[in-house]
Amino acid sequence: MARSFTTKFRVGCNKGYKLIVLGVETSCDETAASICSNSKILSTIVSSQIIHSKFGGVVPELASREHELLLNTIVQQALEEASIDKKEIEGIAVTRGPGLAGALLAGVCFAKGLAHGLKKPIIGINHLEAHIFANFLADPNLKFPFVCLLVSGGHTQLWLVKEMNNYTLMGTSRDDAAGEAFDKGARILGLRYPGGPEIEKLGMNGNPQAVDFPRAFIKNDNLEFSFSGLKTALLYFMDSKKNKKDILLEDIAASYQQAIIDVLVIKLHQAVIEANVNSCVIAGGVAANIALRIAVESKLSTTRVLFPDLSLCTDNAAMVAFLGELYLRNGVSSAMEFDIDPNLKLA
Ligand code: KG4
Ligand code: ZN
Repeated sequence: MARSFTTKFRVGCNKGYKLIVLGVETSCDETAASICSNSKILSTIVSSQIIHSKFGGVVPELASREHELLLNTIVQQALEEASIDKKEIEGIAVTRGPGLAGALLAGVCFAKGLAHGLKKPIIGINHLEAHIFANFLADPNLKFPFVCLLVSGGHTQLWLVKEMNNYTLMGTSRDDAAGEAFDKGARILGLRYPGGPEIEKLGMNGNPQAVDFPRAFIKNDNLEFSFSGLKTALLYFMDSKKNKKDILLEDIAASYQQAIIDVLVIKLHQAVIEANVNSCVIAGGVAANIALRIAVESKLSTTRVLFPDLSLCTDNAAMVAFLGELYLRNGVSSAMEFDIDPNLKLA
């Protein structure tokens, strides 16, 4: 991918110059399109593929087929809702990774075809960077540097975001991601995919202290995470529960969720102290969890804490269009030959 980083990036824009950007997101099981102009989201359409729910996880082959079927309609809807004609699009931003290869290909091929037909620039976007930048939609005055806790289905990472395009990884998970822990835990509890919202709903009125699930590395002063042991602990607990019928499922869900939250909050707090910053943001699907939001705000009461709107935590194209507009506005685009990268890293 050809990127020419010429100038220092500016977040925010010259209001005099109108730039209309279409964003396309297909990295996993959400088919999404959005129109962004002057850092304002004019429309955002997300179609979550329910077909996977009965399989307890995303089936890659089905995801790419669904994207192919839906993309044209979703993009049309985004244009209509923004009252924009296709010919008014001045640039296209599309997620190029990380994600499922076939799913990414569906979005990138569609976006390239459109860019070629309209003779407009295209930019391949890093999905993780887009999640982080969704926080500028929550507050356009967010200032660098800040720490970001990125918690999604595939990633649990702590980033020091010094400025645009300057990111340092402070900590990551050795095994499962936090979202994956929710999804796998939900499957063990007999709940549907995606597991995060299901566990959150079930545990809403449960007792988070009912079961003492393990909290890996909570006493270490490094910024590493591990969630695979927690999932195994739940599995063993459910097997042994056959003799403990008195423990309610909602208490188990609340306790399991609390174990994930405790680790995330402690490590985020540690990272903020280590980085010596006064702002932090949360990004990715797990950031939609209300109990996590409350716990972060309470533990980091002297730090400025920001979360994207709930609909901008889980996968969406508004964050892609927004970040794409920033890059295009700063004179950065991709060569038409750019490729997808299912394992794309942020730094
Ligand atoms: O960012 P995202 O939509 O997709 C990826 O980039 O992976 O994150 C999806 C993950 C799933 O694991 C899902 O269970 C989790 O986010 N999630 C939640 C909630 N909503 C979505 N986890 C906890 N609580 C929620 N409310
Ligand atoms: Zn995501």
